[in-house]
Amino acid sequence: MIYTYGNKTKQAIVFIHGFILDHTMWKNQYKELSKEYCCIGYDVRGLGKSDAGDGQYTMEQFVDDLEDVVKEAGISKPFLCGLSMGGYIALRAAERNPSAYSGIILCDTRATADNKDALLKRAAAIKMINNNKLDVYARGLMESFFHTKFKHENPDEYKRFIAEATSANPVGVKGCLLAMMGRTSTKDFAESTDLPLLGLTGEFDSITPPSELRQMMNNSRNGQFEMIPDAGHIAPSENPVLVNNLIHKFISRILR
Ligand code: MLT
Repeated sequence: MIYTYGNKTKQAIVFIHGFILDHTMWKNQYKELSKEYCCIGYDVRGLGKSDAGDGQYTMEQFVDDLEDVVKEAGISKPFLCGLSMGGYIALRAAERNPSAYSGIILCDTRATADNKDALLKRAAAIKMINNNKLDVYARGLMESFFHTKFKHENPDEYKRFIAEATSANPVGVKGCLLAMMGRTSTKDFAESTDLPLLGLTGEFDSITPPSELRQMMNNSRNGQFEMIPDAGHIAPSENPVLVNNLIHKFISRILR
């Protein structure tokens, strides 16, 4: 299912959500940016309302799905905007077919593949889910995703994120973990491509700390990095006004 906000004749942005979330995490972006752009959202395989299937996913399959979304939506040369796991998908899609996109917006993400520590953490997560502890795992993850300010000022929204994560399909969640474990690094691509890149990371993001994306953007040919104050790992929801302004400024500069 493809969710379209705004006029299809306008420049398109495809939004790719992060792990255990769904396309609704971008609701603040759809609301504001659909005034100027055609905003497209979808649920990544295994999450939200998408079909979990057999849970045997790969990053390549996630990119195939994204390419199908772009084709089905009938849009050309969209900007991709991905958060965390969505950023992994966006970067690999651009690496596979750079001329298909106008630019990439990377939120709270990284380009490197999993190191040993990350692989072992994911294996432990799969074990927890197999032991019927998805609820505990998902709660812990949400706790670490959001900065305290967001939790205090938006208790209902925070609860909604927890409800969404804890009710995710265990097969789909494990499939996403496997796909992330098997992904390749896109760092060399990101640092050598001419595609315009915008990197945004919450100041308090402990999952994908700002230093990593900042360094990659500094090393890239056409990259810009912005730190998002008052935000953790889900900066587009935690500080939507600033994130929307930065996305709008970035796209306007490219299209000028
Ligand atoms: C995400 O937010 O998509 C995940 O934290 C990414 C990851 O686990 O690497």
